[in-house]
Formats: sequence, C-alpha cells, structure tokens
Amino acid sequence: MQDILEQLEARRAAARLGGGERRIAAQHAKGKLTARERLEVLLDEGSFEEFDTYVVHRATDFGMAAEKVPGDGVVTGWGTINGRQTYVFAQDFTVLGGSLSETHAEKICKIMDMAVRNGAPVIGLNDSGGARIQEGVASLAGYAEVFRRNVEASGVVPQLSVVMGPCAGGAVYSPAMTDFIFMVRDSSYMFVTGPDVVKTVTNEVVTAETLGGAATHTRVSGVADAAFENDVEALEETRRLFDFLPLSNREPPPVRPFFDDPDRVEMRLDTLVPASPTQPYDMRELVLAVADEADFFEIGEAFARNIVTGLIRIEGRTVGVVANQPLVLAGCLDIDAARKAARFVRFCDAFAVPILTLVDVPGFLPGTAQEHGGVIKHGAKLLFAYAQASVPMVTLITRKAYGGAYDVMASKHIGADVNYAWPTAEIAVMGAKGAAEILYRSELGDPKKIAARTAEYEQRFANPFVAAERGFVDEVIMPHSSRRRIARAFAALRGKRAERPWRKHDTMPL
Ligand code: HXC
Repeated sequence: MQDILEQLEARRAAARLGGGERRIAAQHAKGKLTARERLEVLLDEGSFEEFDTYVVHRATDFGMAAEKVPGDGVVTGWGTINGRQTYVFAQDFTVLGGSLSETHAEKICKIMDMAVRNGAPVIGLNDSGGARIQEGVASLAGYAEVFRRNVEASGVVPQLSVVMGPCAGGAVYSPAMTDFIFMVRDSSYMFVTGPDVVKTVTNEVVTAETLGGAATHTRVSGVADAAFENDVEALEETRRLFDFLPLSNREPPPVRPFFDDPDRVEMRLDTLVPASPTQPYDMRELVLAVADEADFFEIGEAFARNIVTGLIRIEGRTVGVVANQPLVLAGCLDIDAARKAARFVRFCDAFAVPILTLVDVPGFLPGTAQEHGGVIKHGAKLLFAYAQASVPMVTLITRKAYGGAYDVMASKHIGADVNYAWPTAEIAVMGAKGAAEILYRSELGDPKKIAARTAEYEQRFANPFVAAERGFVDEVIMPHSSRRRIARAFAALRGKRAERPWRKHDTMPL
C-alpha cells in the first residue's frame, strides 16, 4: 500500500512540474507566474480541487507520442473565492506553449459543463500559443466545443477571462464571448492574426503590443475591460470583481455586511454641479458618494470615458452603475459609449443586478465619423438593452438630459422604475441656444433677440419641473440626500417581478 501511495505522490509531483524546471524558469523570467501559482493567488488557500491531472493527449503525428505531459497544458478544477464556489481553468504555457489540443479542450469543456449544471462561475486564465499545431483540425474542433459552451453558459453563469500571455487566432473568441476580460500589461496579447501575418498580408509593420496589447484593448478597441501591472494584481482584482457577482442566474447577487449608513448625507453634492452649464465636473464623485464605503469597481475605465460603468454596493447589495461623464466629450453618447454601456446593462439584467443610471447628457455626438460608423445602430443597442432590462432601475438626472439621449438613458418611458432629478436638471429637446436658433431662424442676425429667445427657452425648460409635472420624474430631490433616496428606492424595488411575453429571442440591433 505504501508503495502505491508513493507512486501516486510521484505522479502528482511530475504533473505539478508541467513542462519542467527550465520552462518554469523561463516563465518566471518573463515576470509571469505558472498556471498553478496563478490558481494559488486566485483561489482561497487550500480550496483548489483539481480534475483530470493525468489526462494526456492522443496525438501521434510529428513525434507527439513521446511528448505526453500529464494535464496536457491546462490545469482545471474548482475552488472558492472568499468562500464562494467557482470553476477554473489555467492554461500552462510551460507545456507546449499552453496550446490547445483535443484533450486540453475536453478538460475545459468538462468544467464548463459542471459550472452550468451546478450554478457557479467559470474563470479562465488564458496563456496559450493557440491551436496545437501538431493536431490540426482536432484542435480546431476542440476550440469550437469551448466556444459553443461559452454561448450556452452566457447569461447562466458569469464567465471571467484573464488574459495572461499570448492569445492568438481564433483563441481570442472564447474570451470574447465571456462577460469580462482582464489583461496584464506588457505580457498579454490578443489578436486574430499576429504581427507576422499582418505584415505578409497588408505590408503593415506593427508590434504585438500596438496590435493587441493591454493598452490597445483597454483604450482603443474596448475588447478588454481592465489592465493590470502584473499577474498578482490581475488575479486579486478578479477576486474583487467576483465578490460583486452572483454565482448564477438562479441566485441573487451576494449581500455583504455593510457599515456605511444608507442615510448618510453628503453636503458636497449640493455644489457638485457648477454654476455654468458648460463647465464640466467629475460624475465619479457622485458614484463614490452614493456607494457603500466609496467602493467602486469600474468596468472599461479607459475606453469610451464619456460614460462610466461599474459595480458598487448599496446597503451591502450589488448595484450596476451607468453614468454619463461630463469631463469627457461633455458626456455625449457616441458609438463606443453606447456599445460599452449596452453590454454592461445586459450583463446586469441577465444576472439580476439592479441598475442605477446617473444622467448628464447633452445628446449624441454629431458628425460624419459617428453617422458613417453606424451610431444609429450602436446607439440603438443601448436603447434596446435598457428597454429590455427587467431588473430594478433607478435613474437620477443631475443636469442635462437632452433629446434622444434623455429617452435612452433609462428614462421612465423605457422602463426605469424610479426617476429622480436634482433641481439643477435641464430636461429638453436640446440646449436653449440651439433651440432658439432653430425656432427663430429669421432673428439670427440680431444677437440681442436671439439672447432673449434663449433666455425664454431656458426659463421654460432648463429645469426638472416640466417633466415632474407630468410624472416623468417621480421626485425632485436634494443633491445631498441622493444616497438615502437611491437606497430607499432600491429597497422598495426588491420585490419587482416583470413578465415578458414568450419569444425565441429578440432581434436586437447587433
Ligand atoms: C504547439 C506550440 C504552439 C502551438 C507554441 N508552442 N505555440 N506548440 N502548438 N500553437 C510551443 C513552442 O514550440 C515551444 O515549445 C513552446 O510552445 C513555447 O513557445 P515559444 O515560441 O518558445 O515561446 P515564445 O517565444 O514566448 O512565443 C510564444 C508565441 C509563439 C508567440 C505564442 O510560440 C507562437 O507564435 N506560436 C504560434 C502561434 C500560432 O500561430 N498559433 C496558431 C494560431 S491559430 P518548446 O518545446 O520549445 O518549449 C489558432 C486557431 C484557433 O489558434 C482557431 C479556433 C477557431
């Protein structure tokens, strides 16, 4: 018996070594942790239960019969994060570059199936050279099996991807179909075709970093939701995000103990909106003032900065925040902002996370770049997402809510439950000057007359009361009591149930 136990221990030790000491050292030399080290940071100490440690590939071509490493380049199983269950896979770059073989894919599929059945999230740590070249179509089939499961799990369990190394070719499409993507600066890359192929096909010379590094994907493409300095920071922030999320769509988001008075009054909010309507202010200050302990997990911070999205807690319960940001493009909606917010709203709605919308929006960004880029279709995504959402929704207009953007930003008419406005709110079809110039075009030559018309329009519409008179705004509230009013509104909406007629699925403007 002792012999048998020792043999098992020896097998385990061999599996833990992955691709061997030399390749582990190479991984460390790049500032990267190994797959198992990453799981140690991600999961609670001692909580990891590994599956399929001894799985090996079945390939024989290209001398592969002699290249069998237990685990086949991916470590899979489940563990806990602050006591809550999650399924995980971590690709092991030390084994054939973490490349995905048929069996490697089977291991990932197994834990994805278990996650959906048992109602717990999937966290994937990606570090892979893509399809295992020696296996050809068997490996492509493996990817497709993973893709299909990503789609089946979407909206059933949260799926988080942390890209911690190369992620090339079709391999990027598995992370792309998950809910959140994090990257590590200077060591992770995502592209459909790498720099060499780009050069061959288009003659364009570009570095991997510029083509698909963390800065590119968090700022330019919006593919990734956040970038972090190193593996440890990325994994710790993944734990932080996980704490906000429900385990599945069958369970409500977690309720945490809270020590921040929901009735907390914030006098500084009374002066947050500047006297001049053209002067910007930081909407994040309002987000932090409303949140429990000013704890805000921002999603997509560096992309489409004219809209702020992220998660906070109010009375210990997770709330998704969507907020126009007057500091950037005056808070206008544009293609990127609409895409970013629409995706976030749909995530919240799928996982029963109530939505708080903070509005200061002068409208959609005008111009050929926007129109030719399809702002109509992209803007409609946000409208569609809000109108479809059935989670509790509270909206607060701080200043401008102009035109179509008023409708889109969780107005009463498209389904928000409680709509508040500060006394500084201006709800109108457009800004007063623009309105006067259109309505009184014949007086354009006379600046005095136009100024008088502008003042008249302002007087009539630059306030929340026209909307409040019709019940489009439920109440005009004091800025300093925003946290209390919002907390009470969400508390009143906890029993909300919305029935929708049956349909296979909608045909949203993708
Ligand atoms: C098999 C691979 C591999 C792969 C890397 N390796 N990629 N083995 N299949 N796809 C092996 C290498 O042979 C090497 O083995 C080890 O992993 C480490 O690779 P290096 O090249 O030494 O590392 P590095 O210099 O860091 O470069 C990493 C890399 C590069 C950028 C990922 O290896 C690379 O370009 N690989 C090929 C990427 C690729 O084109 N993949 C196919 C994409 S198409 P040893 O034994 O020396 O340690 C695709 C289709 C998916 O993925 C379709 C889904 C629909």
